[in-house]
Amino acid sequence: MCGILGYIGNREAYPILIKGLHRLEYRGYDSAGIALINRENSKLNIYKTKGRVSDLEEFTKGKDISGTVGIAHTRWATHGEPNHINAHPHYSQSENLALIHNGIIENYAVLKESLIRKGYVFQSETDTEVLVQLIEYIKTDNNTDISTAIQLALKQVIGAYAIAVVEKENPDLIIAARKSSPLVVGIGQDEFFLASDASPIIEYTNQVIYLNDEEIALIHRNEQLRIINLSNVEKTPQITLLEMSLNELEKGGYPHFMLKEIFEQPRTLRDCMSGRLNTGNGRVVLSGIIDHREKFINARRIIILACGTSWHAGLIGEYLFEEFCRIPVEVEYSSEFRYRRPVIYPDDVVIAVSQSGETADTLAAIELAKQAGAFVYGICNVVGSSIARNTDSGSYTHVGPEIGVASTKAFTAQVAVLTMMALNIAREKKTISEQQYLALLSELSGIPGKIETILQQNRYIEDLSKIFTYAHNFIYLGRGYSYPVAVEGALKLKEISYIHAEGYPAAEMKHGPIALIDNEMPVVVIAINSTTYDKMTSNIQEIKARKGRILAIVNKSDCKVREMADYTIEIPDTEECLSPLLSIVPLQLLSYHIAVKKGRDVDMPRNLAKSVTVE
Ligand code: G6P
Repeated sequence: MCGILGYIGNREAYPILIKGLHRLEYRGYDSAGIALINRENSKLNIYKTKGRVSDLEEFTKGKDISGTVGIAHTRWATHGEPNHINAHPHYSQSENLALIHNGIIENYAVLKESLIRKGYVFQSETDTEVLVQLIEYIKTDNNTDISTAIQLALKQVIGAYAIAVVEKENPDLIIAARKSSPLVVGIGQDEFFLASDASPIIEYTNQVIYLNDEEIALIHRNEQLRIINLSNVEKTPQITLLEMSLNELEKGGYPHFMLKEIFEQPRTLRDCMSGRLNTGNGRVVLSGIIDHREKFINARRIIILACGTSWHAGLIGEYLFEEFCRIPVEVEYSSEFRYRRPVIYPDDVVIAVSQSGETADTLAAIELAKQAGAFVYGICNVVGSSIARNTDSGSYTHVGPEIGVASTKAFTAQVAVLTMMALNIAREKKTISEQQYLALLSELSGIPGKIETILQQNRYIEDLSKIFTYAHNFIYLGRGYSYPVAVEGALKLKEISYIHAEGYPAAEMKHGPIALIDNEMPVVVIAINSTTYDKMTSNIQEIKARKGRILAIVNKSDCKVREMADYTIEIPDTEECLSPLLSIVPLQLLSYHIAVKKGRDVDMPRNLAKSVTVE
């Protein structure tokens, strides 16, 4: 949610910043901007425009883009509509300072009012401009240096921020700070980079420092990086070596990241399970669980906290933990959990699921759970992310960077981790028979191969998608383990094609959605072999009786549903509890192709962002 970036060194900053902005564009893409200090004429130039980074490149053509220090921003609007005035960077009143920001300054209105009374004039509707004006006011009023002014200003701020500031008369310095929004500093040879995540940095250096909350990085040209906190205590920078590779950030011949990521799933699931799932000795090794075995075995309850697609993975986790571990589970939207007074016991185990590891609501919900004394386990994809660092223990999903805004490979890996956790705990608790445990282990290890066979139907699913581009509404239905898949399938369609879609438990259809069904309404039913297969066939009859058009996801061995459905997509047979790992794949492909046919920007759908660092 907004990407921020900075460079200081001996090279020209502009090309590095533009390239980096492209990498961060998944975080927000309604406007973009750049600030560069030209030492020759002592100018601090800001260029910004509504639209994408490519629009910014167009806009800067023929302009003075020289400078070896600069900051840049790609925006997902919170305060103020997406236009060039609200785009970052923002100048201070004297135009001596420029600032970029990811997050929300919650008390901006009060601060703004007081600055207006002091004679400050605002250009934009953003909360960010308040911060840069406040820094300038404090600097002038207290006659202090820029870093002290930033410290004092940030002490007045309520909310979340990752910021970077440059000062016209100080072309050898960038100051960056964070609280609840991510910020990474890259250390190169005589140069420094800063960014919301490591993706723009990796091609220049693999040495990075993840800033902690309320830390300020003083990034001086040709000097050692210094980190201080808001109270001016010096911190020792902890260098982390990045393991990400550049190839993972490219499309690799695919037209979109989303399609690449769908096709990567056999490999990413193998990576996710590698070294953890051992069919040879019948063991599931998740060190995060082994180290805290007693917590899981004695858990009174499991609470799963997540948002979006990760929440859907959490729903599958609920079915798994309850079926195999016999532990009661609640799956909570982080945003709801944090704002009510949830009952949390010290012997609850809280599992936070998050691809980015930066989702603001999930982070805040974790804090609440920790305060209540619960043990918190994180399932994250981004290594070193805030959630990974703020939980007691956890497992990474290891799928590499997910860039398409619609989550695909992260979802299947989250489900795989939850499955491995459930199997591990169930065996420890002896709530699963050895025979069933070993059978599931073996079946799970074969899932990547089965996904490969589903992906071979890509062309067929693409053809099928043409039939559905007319639709304005879709219903997705499933029961049991297929219910979360229905909800996730509907989300995939609506977020990238802008077709309204609802995911429902099939039996609930009678309580409302059935009223919507007519001969124009496509109904996607996940009708795989399961304990509720016969019930599902009755639900399909009910749709048929109302002339709904049925697209059914069925098993290879299916006969009955195939006869009733208008169209079918086959998936290989598997155990019911593992079926979401297969049944979601054709739904990902279906959404992708419908969205492409409708001319949508599937990797950067309107209004969305990959990493939601605001509440
Ligand atoms: C956004 C993304 C979704 C993601 C959700 C939760 O809405 O577009 O793909 O599922 O945030 O994000 P997280 O990083 O916590 O999984």
